[in-house]
Amino acid sequence: MDLFHFPRWTNRIRPMIPLMAISGAIYMVGLVAFGASPDTLAVGYAPQQPISYSHRLHAGELGIDCRYCHQNVDNSAAASLPSTGTCMNCHASVRKDSPLLAVLRESATTGNPIPWVKVNDLPDHVFFNHSAHVTRGVGCVECHGRVDKMEVVEQTAPLSMGWCLDCHRNADEIMRPVDQVTNMAWTAPAGGVDRSTVREVNPPTSCSTCHR
Ligand code: HEC
Ligand code: HEC
Ligand code: HEC
Ligand code: HEC
Ligand code: HEC
Repeated sequence: MDLFHFPRWTNRIRPMIPLMAISGAIYMVGLVAFGASPDTLAVGYAPQQPISYSHRLHAGELGIDCRYCHQNVDNSAAASLPSTGTCMNCHASVRKDSPLLAVLRESATTGNPIPWVKVNDLPDHVFFNHSAHVTRGVGCVECHGRVDKMEVVEQTAPLSMGWCLDCHRNADEIMRPVDQVTNMAWTAPAGGVDRSTVREVNPPTSCSTCHR
């Protein structure tokens, strides 16, 4: 018995070995160049939505506060999206026959929610909590950019582990008064923010903070 012979079927994959080695190498290069680089993780992702709803118009020009629609940012992990009824508070009368609102009216009639497409999406193994940030004084703009200027919402942060940790290690620099978290245009006064107006924070960096 010859223990040092590969079974005969391996002859058939032998010609494929160089190919496998090459694609393996390309995969590794790709992994290092793109996978490990924090700024290629979906920044700029701006999917088409079922209604061409504009934050620039509603949050910017009309000045509606973020919390009017994202009602849970202060008290739960998820910020939540507005129900059809929230839109209908105005659109039952404002532009009520606009073709751009046909999908909204249909949702109001059938009771089926509008199938908004998720933009920012963390993997399931990561724990995130809006209220832990918003109620301490981390502004929406730090993580979502100038939403009040966006016709279509896009992802502005890489949402990578390095990105979370960078801020957890240097959070003092970005803290603002809690009543300014939804003010997209707020900037620290010249000479720096008055420390007595912002919360003292100490964001944890242990693994179990974000992986539980
Ligand atoms: C009149 C209601 C309304 C107001 C006011 C509003 N939003 Fe929204 N927001 C929506 C709707 C509807 C969506 C889902 C459709 C979309 O992405 O455009 C959304 C989506 C988002 C998303 C993307 C969610 C995801 O899937 O990642 C972010 C971030 C966001 N809003 C932030 C804000 C901020 C910050 C403000 C205040 C400056 C604000 N919104 C004000 C209705 C509103
Ligand atoms: C520290 C960063 C951070 C801050 C501050 C922040 N968000 Fe988010 N937001 C995220 C992340 C990360 C997600 C994706 C969460 C997920 O996929 O589980 C998200 C998702 C959302 C969504 C989609 C629905 C949801 O809850 O997943 C909305 C809407 C939203 N944010 C609105 C806001 C508003 C409004 C504010 C300010 C009042 C705000 N966010 C502040 C990081 C942040
Ligand atoms: C507080 C009132 C208010 C709320 C709430 C509101 N809107 Fe509006 N919306 C307006 C106003 C005002 C206009 C501009 C009307 C005009 O240009 O004459 C508008 C315009 C629009 C338009 C453009 C319509 C057209 O014919 O040009 C769309 C689409 C729209 N809104 C979608 C939504 C959606 C979706 C929601 C809920 C997430 C929503 N709106 C919530 C007040 C509101
Ligand atoms: C712009 C700054 C900033 C970014 C970005 C950020 N955080 Fe935070 N995070 C904070 C601050 C500030 C706190 C509050 C710490 C405190 O209360 O002492 C906090 C608290 C938390 C908490 C609650 C910790 C606890 O036990 O009280 C969790 C969980 C968390 N962050 C997860 C994340 C994750 C996951 C990400 C990335 C997706 C992220 N954070 C990105 C600033 C940030
Ligand atoms: C402040 C939040 C935060 C802390 C603290 C944190 N992580 Fe993460 N971690 C994340 C986020 C966000 C991702 C998802 C990154 C992505 O999608 O690329 C992640 C992804 C990971 C992954 C999966 C990598 C991958 O390619 O998807 C591993 C493994 C991991 N973390 C281990 C750890 C370990 C070990 C620690 C403690 C030393 C730790 N994390 C602490 C936020 C955190």
